[in-house]
Amino acid sequence: MVEEARPSAPSAGSGGLARSGSAAKALRPTVLSEVQAPRVARLRTGIGELDRVLGGGLVPGSLVLLGGSPGIGKSTITTSALGNLAAAGNKVLYVSGEESAAQVRLRAERLGAGAMSVPIVAETDLDTVVATVEAERPDVCVVDSVQVLHAGALTGAPGSVGQVREVAGRLMRTAKQRGTAIVLVGHVTKEGALAGPRVLEHLVDCVLSFEGERERTYRTLRALKNRFGSTNEAGVFEMRDEGLVEVEDASARFVAEATREPGSVVLCAMEGSRPLLVEVQALVAPTELVPPRRMANGVDRNRLALVLAVLARHAGVQVGSADVFVSLAGGVRVDEPAADLAIALAVASATRGVPLGRGHKPLAAFGELGLTGELRHAAHPDRRLAEARKFGLEGVLHPGERLPHLRSALAAGLAPQAARDRAA
Ligand code: TYD
Ligand code: MG
Repeated sequence: MVEEARPSAPSAGSGGLARSGSAAKALRPTVLSEVQAPRVARLRTGIGELDRVLGGGLVPGSLVLLGGSPGIGKSTITTSALGNLAAAGNKVLYVSGEESAAQVRLRAERLGAGAMSVPIVAETDLDTVVATVEAERPDVCVVDSVQVLHAGALTGAPGSVGQVREVAGRLMRTAKQRGTAIVLVGHVTKEGALAGPRVLEHLVDCVLSFEGERERTYRTLRALKNRFGSTNEAGVFEMRDEGLVEVEDASARFVAEATREPGSVVLCAMEGSRPLLVEVQALVAPTELVPPRRMANGVDRNRLALVLAVLARHAGVQVGSADVFVSLAGGVRVDEPAADLAIALAVASATRGVPLGRGHKPLAAFGELGLTGELRHAAHPDRRLAEARKFGLEGVLHPGERLPHLRSALAAGLAPQAARDRAA
């Protein structure tokens, strides 16, 4: 049962009558080409990766939902963004419902001078927050978080579906009327469930998702929905002592860190429209356990199961009596099927104890595996190859005429070093 606020306006007469004898006037539609659409300047947050994901900055009067699990860095990134916006001469406001003003100050101290100039109110009552926004009229306002604000008109607990919807609805009207860009921070659980962010997606203009593991340093920011830009963009950040730092060349970092030991291969992945090179590692260890363990970090478990089955059936790599661990470096998550080939190569290399790659360079690969062991086309092969070339990785294994099947890819990747040198 979801409680909703009743509209306060008195309904004209009985519902039935009002509907049939409607007094509403018909509208005259306008041809789109004649609709006035002034180009508004975007508000740049000064955080390059965030601006890119937003499609060039915040749009005045828009409502943005920033979702992510607790501790991922939502408060950190929003505080830094407000600090930059304030430094650039915009009026900003930080509404903290979760933490006291003193707690937010302690965080801001680590983030530098800009962040310390952000005005803050610590409040959880929705009416008070709306009144404050209307009085202050900031250009950008952050509400941290949508789950702790409480609408007095409803009895439900803060964070319940009815409350969250009411809070977001009211703030949206305020944003549109006052031209204030409002960023709603929302928590999601690991499963992306929980009342809250999910029920708001249709309402807001833009849904950003902050992903990664709290224990790891790398985080990705993605747009799941964007009325003012593409949803193909993703930004990579690193959590440091002085806050979130943009990682502009994540590929360079991951390639340099790749171990080149048996079980390591570089995957040419796509983060939205941007290629990203990331190391895939596999460990295959004999076990007495039945069934043996299958652990996947950063890739889908079911995908790993499929790759292992194809390896066993079509390439003669048996791991039936071994634990298999597969992990992506740095806490990166890749959900595209193009990761299959890299996973297969890493597992095969770990099983045989043969390193991939040539000389001091790691081997790079991408491609989807079919159930019959064939290698299938992956999107944007050119961009992936160009990224690999940029970091000096030649001989990338990918689907094509020369590599029609997983067997041929394994033969090419696992050939003894001498043979590979001859081939080169
Ligand atoms: P926070 O932004 O509070 O997360 P969220 O609002 O998403 O719940 O920050 C999360 C973690 O980041 C916190 O455990 C401490 C850490 N952190 C740093 O490592 N460096 C920093 O400069 C800051 C501000 C936080
Ligand atoms: Mg927070």
